[in-house]
Amino acid sequence: MVKKIALFNHKGGVSKTTTAFNLGWMLAKKRKRVIIADCDPQCNLTGMVLGFKKADEFEAIYKTKAGEVKNIREGLAPAFESRPTAIEPVTCETIKGQPNLFLLPGHIGLAEYEVTLGIAQELSGSLVTLQNLPGSFSRLFDLTAEKYRADIILVDMSPSLGAINQNLLMTSDFFIVPMAPDYFSVMAIDSLSSVLPKWVNWSRQAKAQPLLKKAAYPFPDKNPQFLGTIIQKYRLREGKTPSAAFQKWIDEIEMGIKTKFIPMLTENQMLLSKRIYEDVGIKPTQPLIQMSDFNSLIALSQKHKAPIFSLTDKQLEQTGVVLKITKRSMQQFYDLYSTGADRIIKIIDHA
Ligand SMILES: Nc1ncnc2c1ncn2[C@@H]1O[C@H](COP(=O)(O)OP(=O)(O)OP(=O)(O)O)[C@@H](O)[C@H]1O
Ligand SMILES: [Mg+2]
Repeated sequence: MVKKIALFNHKGGVSKTTTAFNLGWMLAKKRKRVIIADCDPQCNLTGMVLGFKKADEFEAIYKTKAGEVKNIREGLAPAFESRPTAIEPVTCETIKGQPNLFLLPGHIGLAEYEVTLGIAQELSGSLVTLQNLPGSFSRLFDLTAEKYRADIILVDMSPSLGAINQNLLMTSDFFIVPMAPDYFSVMAIDSLSSVLPKWVNWSRQAKAQPLLKKAAYPFPDKNPQFLGTIIQKYRLREGKTPSAAFQKWIDEIEMGIKTKFIPMLTENQMLLSKRIYEDVGIKPTQPLIQMSDFNSLIALSQKHKAPIFSLTDKQLEQTGVVLKITKRSMQQFYDLYSTGADRIIKIIDHA
């Protein structure tokens, strides 16, 4: 059965999308069959993977012929637009250079489903006509995973606490919280600690609702488990940050995770057993990965639609000593993603 891993933080710009692509590639390199699903109406993942720069380039994915399902919105349309047809798997995009990796493309119009899903998830009397919506994302993912014989779906989410994210998180098997070492990520731990128990409570009610159980797309019985955080040590707007300043925020994040987040997860049965973390050699308070600044590699990675850790010498456009230094730093990114991917595989295969 496919394992769904949500990349979730309502704080924006913490590298959710970049992680989906690079980590997805690394997991695929380790022989997992991986679908990266673009569930953010901003469609940054789709743009990044397919190398789209201009808006009209998305038309090939958005304007589909009858019978074609090439993006998430089209996949969900039978449920959300009450079509007399059943949900069918999405035809994913294959990815040059990595045959085990597939993209389930996003759609800017996914945002239009947010309000209807919100009403459906209120679990009120008006539910009868909306009963197929809460289980529809899960059904679409399962069918698409079956089609591609996927082991893992990495779900790239928008930076919000809206109904779609509530659904995606609560129907996933595991979740990772990407973070940046700054004030806002420390604050985000507080809001996540207060929102998640409400979502767990909602999910418990949804799972017990007879109408949702006998819907065409039943609400799945899931208890998402926390895999860990991934901390990106880079600063976008304020230029270079000394590592001492990063360390201060990383320490504060670890403290927030330890004193607020982990107790909340324990109370809500969202934390894996101690033994599983011990097996991979980390504590749940410690990040799965601490990623350094990609510096100039990020532009080349985007230009060549290749992961940060496996650009060829030609793609690096450098020679001599400079090339040697760049390759050394690329190797460090390779090692960081590789260790993170090994930890994730070990946890999800044994949980
Ligand atoms: N380790 C890194 N070093 C340098 N730049 C990075 C790193 N990780 C991500 N970035 C850059 O930071 C920006 C934000 O990253 P990304 O889009 O992945 O974040 P996000 O969490 O998906 O954002 P959003 O919340 O808007 O969806 C991008 O321009 C990306 O190229
Ligand atoms: Mg994003």
